[in-house]
Amino acid sequence: MTNHFKQNFVTQKAEVHLPDVPLTGTIPDWLNGTLIRCGPGQFEQAHASYKHWFDGLSMPHRYTFNNGRLSFQNRFLQSQAYLKDNATGTINYRGVFVDPRRTFWDKIKALFINDVTDNCNIQTVDDQGTIVIMTELPHMYQLDPISLQTVAKYEYDHKINATMQTAHPQIDPNKGNLIVNYMLKISLFNYYEVFNVRGRAYQRVSRVPVASPSYMHSFALTENYVILAEQPLKLPGYGRGVFALAFGNKPFLENFVWYGDQPTVFQVIDRNSGAVVTQAETDAFFVFHQLNAYEQNGEIFMDLAAYPNASVLPDFFLDRLRANTHIPHTPAQARRYRIPLGKPRRRIDGESLASINMELPRINYRYNTQPYRYGYGVSLYQDLPDFPNQLVKIDVVTGETAVWHHPMQYPSEPVFVPNPNATAEDDGIVLANVYDANTHASYLLVLDGQSFTQMARGDLNFRIPFDYHGWFYPGVV
Ligand code: CO
Repeated sequence: MTNHFKQNFVTQKAEVHLPDVPLTGTIPDWLNGTLIRCGPGQFEQAHASYKHWFDGLSMPHRYTFNNGRLSFQNRFLQSQAYLKDNATGTINYRGVFVDPRRTFWDKIKALFINDVTDNCNIQTVDDQGTIVIMTELPHMYQLDPISLQTVAKYEYDHKINATMQTAHPQIDPNKGNLIVNYMLKISLFNYYEVFNVRGRAYQRVSRVPVASPSYMHSFALTENYVILAEQPLKLPGYGRGVFALAFGNKPFLENFVWYGDQPTVFQVIDRNSGAVVTQAETDAFFVFHQLNAYEQNGEIFMDLAAYPNASVLPDFFLDRLRANTHIPHTPAQARRYRIPLGKPRRRIDGESLASINMELPRINYRYNTQPYRYGYGVSLYQDLPDFPNQLVKIDVVTGETAVWHHPMQYPSEPVFVPNPNATAEDDGIVLANVYDANTHASYLLVLDGQSFTQMARGDLNFRIPFDYHGWFYPGVV
């Protein structure tokens, strides 16, 4: 089958400001604020390719709703990687799936100075009013949310000394939007560290030693616990993986090995004491993203988008995504695990939440850490599972689904924006970028959260390469 979406994995170097994007349909009058979405814009240099979707140079973009009008802007992040790579026409820093040819001296230096890329291209987070753009390597930048200018490097008051962290910190709505995140330190003694951040103030919650560290793209949060889904995509133990990471020539993530015969282990960490209070294990699965988690009747309900293994990672190499004939994409399943609290380590099984596949899950974030009913995500159409080409809404209580699908339309992760006066969880709208493979242009799709049908769209006459994540900032105009 022809690859319809590959043209949207072409570099887009133009930076535009569209003050008045034509809107068709109607948008709710309460909708004021800015959606900032993150993803790559540049995939090549004159003498090298970034090879993998996850390593493209960061090009954040924003949609702003201001009194019924819609504007758009995109701008490349002025990271050291962006500046130096474009100046030299080569790749100068270690990325997730790309590695420059490092000399032995470079490798020795890297033991003392973190040499990984500062190409923050995954997600933005609001740290008490400061918008910070993140990647999962330990670099962050402050962004101006409207001009998208790179303000400065962003650091916490305590140098975190991490090998990686997640670009999916949790924000606790019950604790004044406290940021909770975890990081992994790989060294002679490896550990996971859970921490709180409020306006740069860093507070360690827990440090968990680990012999063979797992790659984890996100984690789950409840009122009292952090839950790490320690999946068996691991750095080989007994120092072998650490040594290969430091002195080998493989890109960062390729040092991690899938051990499919090992379980995925849930580590439940008490947010007050920092202790690992419960562990549970299940058959190996791979996960990027959680939907939500909460405590109920002595159990943790943990919902996530699960893959049978880590084969989705090579799905995103650019040569595969750009093949003339599309290669089927790996589907993920929305799944619930119920972890009994305060019991000895035991085996548990997951249950499917819906019959349709789903990735890039989002919820009404007011329900984060609380019982909830609705998840929103991208999905693969059953007859053409080439690349996410439909949006879904699932009811995690009944398993009912609603689908938005139109041929040749490739939507991004859907962001739910609640009505400020909402009386129901799904009273709000859903915003997604859509790449129209017929016209080779992108538009902003506005769906009604309840009916999951189109309310409006804003046509850009511009193409945004496939991005990863977005966050809506109410009142930022
Ligand atoms: Co992500």
